[in-house]
Parts: sequence; C-alpha cells; structure tokens
Amino acid sequence: MLGVKKTYTLGIETSCDDTALALLCDGEIVSFQKKSQIIHSKTKGIVPQVAAKEHLEQIDFLFQNCLKEAGVSLKKINSIGVTSGPGLIGALAVGASWAAGLAESLKIPVYGINHLEGHIFTLFFSKKKPSFPSLVLLASGGHTMLLNWNYPQQFERLFNTRDDSAGEAFDKVAKMLNLGFPGGPEIEQHASIAQNPRIYQFTIPMRGRVGFSFSGLKTEARKRIQEEKDLNLSDFCAGFQHTVFQHLIQQTEKKLKQKKYKSLGLVGGVSANKKLRRNFEHLAEKHSVDFVVPPLKLSTDNGVMPAIVAERMYSGEIAPSRLTKVFPRFTMSP
Ligand code: KG4
Ligand code: ZN
Repeated sequence: MLGVKKTYTLGIETSCDDTALALLCDGEIVSFQKKSQIIHSKTKGIVPQVAAKEHLEQIDFLFQNCLKEAGVSLKKINSIGVTSGPGLIGALAVGASWAAGLAESLKIPVYGINHLEGHIFTLFFSKKKPSFPSLVLLASGGHTMLLNWNYPQQFERLFNTRDDSAGEAFDKVAKMLNLGFPGGPEIEQHASIAQNPRIYQFTIPMRGRVGFSFSGLKTEARKRIQEEKDLNLSDFCAGFQHTVFQHLIQQTEKKLKQKKYKSLGLVGGVSANKKLRRNFEHLAEKHSVDFVVPPLKLSTDNGVMPAIVAERMYSGEIAPSRLTKVFPRFTMSP
C-alpha cells in the first residue's frame, strides 16, 4: 500500500555450526543467507572453538549479502533478533555481540531469541497456518521434545529426551558407519535406496513408558555394526531410521490421544527428513488435526527463526525479551 511504512527485521543465528542471517519485511523473507561450516565434517562432530572462529569470519560478509539481496540500506532495519541460547557459548557470543554492536550504532532494539522458539515460529511459514492449541515435536541435533503451543502464549514443554536427541543419534550412527556429517541427510539418502529395510530390526525405545530416549538405540546400532561382517548399508540405514521415527510417532501419538489439539507441528533439523514428514502427515490425518511443517529450507537452523520472533516482539504482539546474556542450556525464559 502506498504511504505505509515497511518494517524490516534482521535475524541472526550462530548457535551451532551455521552462520545464518535473514531479513524480513512485514513477515515476508526478503533475504536468506546461510553458510554451513563444512570444516566439521573432517572431525565428524562440531569443535566449539572452531565454530566460533568460523562465525566471526563469515558474519560481516553474509550481512552485506543480506542487504544486497533485499536491495535495502542498513538504515532501513527497524529491529534485530539474535539467538541467545541454547547453543555453544562461544558461537552464541559471536552473534550476540555483533548484533548488539549493530543495534547500538543504528539506535534500534535488539532482542535475545530462544533458539527453540525460533524453530517453533517457523510454523508460521507452513502452507497450512497453525491453529491452536498445537502439539509440536521439536527434533534437532541438540533437542528432542514435545511441546504444547498456544500462541501468543509462551510454549509449554511436555517432555524432553532423557538422554540424547534424535539428530545426535543420526549423527553418531552415521559416524559409526563412516558416513559424512551431519548424519541425518546421509542416513536418509542411503535409506531411500534400501531393498530389504526389514532385515535390520531394532528395539523401539520407551514402548510402555512416556518420553524420548535414544542412547539404548545407539548402543544397539553400534553392536550390530561391530558384529555384522557383510553389513548392507542402505538396509541398515532404513532399519535404523524406521526405528527412530516409530519412537517419535508412538510418543507423539500418546499425547494426541490425551488432549484435543487443532494442529500437529514438526520442527527442528530432523523435520527436513521427507519420510518423517510423510509419517507425521499420516499421523495428523489419523487424528483429524492439521499438519503443519515449515518449508524444507526453514527446517534446519536459519536466520528467519530469530527474525520472525523479533518481528512479533517489535510489533508488540508478544512480550519482548531484551538481549542481556547468552545461555548454553534450555530454559523457558532466557
Ligand atoms: O535444528 P538443527 O539444524 O540444529 C540444531 O538445532 O541442532 O538440526 C540439526 C540436526 C542434525 O543432527 C542433523 O543430522 C539433523 O538435524 N538432520 C536430519 C536431516 N537433516 C538434518 N535428520 C534426519 N534427516 C534429515 N534429512
Ligand atoms: Zn536448531
């Protein structure tokens, strides 16, 4: 509309191994910049100090690209959202101090954004809009939890994993199989060409109990890899992936049966898996709730996550959280 001032929000995400920035203009993504740190594939796991150094080297360049892609000058930015936790402390500190410096020079607000809330808010970019209350599964490299989300109220955690996360289980098992990092996409790719996925059966964790757990499954996978002489890689990947997803589905279904939800959401890096997306779509259909999931490029860590939360803080739709510190572990209020 002519004469209506546009609002620009910059999002910065450096909590782990992706340096990611994005610019939103009134809810629309006008630039999306992301550099994943491939250096960690050498160690098949993230080295925190290396991650922080890489963020520092990339962030200015990606910011300039962001402005170029959107075709705006930096003076147009109205507010900044930066991931303040949970994550690797050094990596978070790079993004937070860089954001604080820019905000100070532009005299604009900077918000500290919870990484998990960022993942959840990507559901606003789902084809079908989320309706509330929504049951959300967040499965990433750092977390695997079920949440009750009743926007604009703060989300409520129903339960977290007892040990490792689904993404970490993918990464570790991929490492045992000498596959690349991150392991999730590697295992997905091998599983997609499996001939006999039923050959490799694993015990589904926590069958009679409520909660997530992946450490036992990882141990079982390790034993099979060590014992089997002629391991069929694609069949093994398919069997392992199937077990992880059955576990996620069974636990999510328990909660769907307990309360009337309007939508079922799937977020976090593991939600980039196409098989898991199809599985959850069927689960939602079975329970007559809408299925909501972000577009693929918003499943793994990205700059839109802190930007979409910050935009709603700036507009006053949700309570603002000032950037005062960075925090490594999950907490409801940063
Ligand atoms: O959300 P994310 O990008 O970073 C964290 O917050 O941890 O999630 C990364 C995790 C990694 O463990 C990676 O292996 C997993 O998401 N992942 C996948 C797929 N793509 C990424 N897992 C299964 N299938 C995928 N296609
Ligand atoms: Zn994440």
